[in-house]
Amino acid sequence: MIKIFNADKILKNRFNETTTNWQNFAIDMSRKRELASPMSEFLGSITILIITWYAGTQILEDQTMKPQAFLVFIGMFFQILDPAKKLSSAISSIQGGMASLERVAEVLDYDLKVEEIAEPVSISTLSNQIEFKNIGFYYDKDNVILKNFSLIIPKGKTIALVGQSGSGKTTIANLLARFYDVNEGQILIDGVDIKHLKLKEYRQLLGMVTQESVLFNDSIYNNILMGKPEATKEEVVEAAKIANADSFITNLPEGYDSNIGDDGNKLSGGQKQRVSIARAVLKNPPVMILDEATSALDTESERFVQDALDKMMENRTSLVIAHRLSTIQKADWIVVMEKGIVVEQGTHHDLIAKKGMYHKLVELQNFD
Ligand SMILES: Nc1ncnc2c1ncn2[C@@H]1O[C@H](COP(=O)(O)OP(=O)(O)OP(=O)(O)O)[C@@H](O)[C@H]1O
Ligand SMILES: [Mg+2]
Repeated sequence: MIKIFNADKILKNRFNETTTNWQNFAIDMSRKRELASPMSEFLGSITILIITWYAGTQILEDQTMKPQAFLVFIGMFFQILDPAKKLSSAISSIQGGMASLERVAEVLDYDLKVEEIAEPVSISTLSNQIEFKNIGFYYDKDNVILKNFSLIIPKGKTIALVGQSGSGKTTIANLLARFYDVNEGQILIDGVDIKHLKLKEYRQLLGMVTQESVLFNDSIYNNILMGKPEATKEEVVEAAKIANADSFITNLPEGYDSNIGDDGNKLSGGQKQRVSIARAVLKNPPVMILDEATSALDTESERFVQDALDKMMENRTSLVIAHRLSTIQKADWIVVMEKGIVVEQGTHHDLIAKKGMYHKLVELQNFD
């Protein structure tokens, strides 16, 4: 998710900031620890003892040093002792900090299980269609998730995936975003295998609103901005308006500067979704992947969210995974999945008339 917004840079900066703060804190801590350490006190005393003994012999026996000079020397020594201790502990803390920084940077760069080929092809837009061609996929070999899955998403159309929990819908979205690579078959963008494309450019074409909206402990403004870091304030507000989020945001005491808490826990489910929709709207990608949240929204926010989604998907190539079937009645094509295979497909009307699996799912929901 971080990668789909190519937001690693923003996060790395935030990470650096946090690390610097942490480093300062750690330096402070270890300085205190160092000063209290009996070992260093002991060594200090020994040093002073040796110096005093040496200076004593110089003054009393050899008479090569004046007592005044010694007093000045010992005074200076005590002046230097403390900063020297601080310096050494600071250096050791910085070294420790650098090592952890490198490790975390490695983790940030680690991109699940996909790699770019040696000479990847450039891509700037979708002109024709997305095709899933005989896809086979498993997370682990003993448990095959998708078998011979095929699907075409023509440019500008909305395709919906429905099916029971665990049937592989989110997996398909993850494969399209290339968070994983398929084990069999190909995903083709205008006939080119996505494995052959420049990953960063390809992901630039995609917007994603997922089951768990990924929000960061930061202001609402910055969370939306992640969709397009160079956007102006006007663009951010415009995106929030399209996502039906502007009115609730401006009603918060601090408006767009309101902090949303860890994982957005200071917002309701519907508000969180609308913030992540605003982010996707701001990014304005040609292809939209929407994995609808399972958690039921109340009717009021459902209406707002639905309206926001409808606006977002207008004239856009979209893959929509829906749990509330009311969401997708207007989809151009509905694909019904069961245990990783397609069991039915067609328009809402065709599928209702067919009185098959889709019809059953719709009936079940109407009872709720
Ligand atoms: N990261 C993973 N590692 C291993 N198995 C996984 C992983 N993610 C999903 N699965 C398995 O793959 C299958 C399909 O999961 P997926 O998330 O695609 O289902 P879904 O159709 O989106 O379900 P839901 O409607 O509940 O969102 C499930 O059996 C699940 O246990
Ligand atoms: Mg899912």
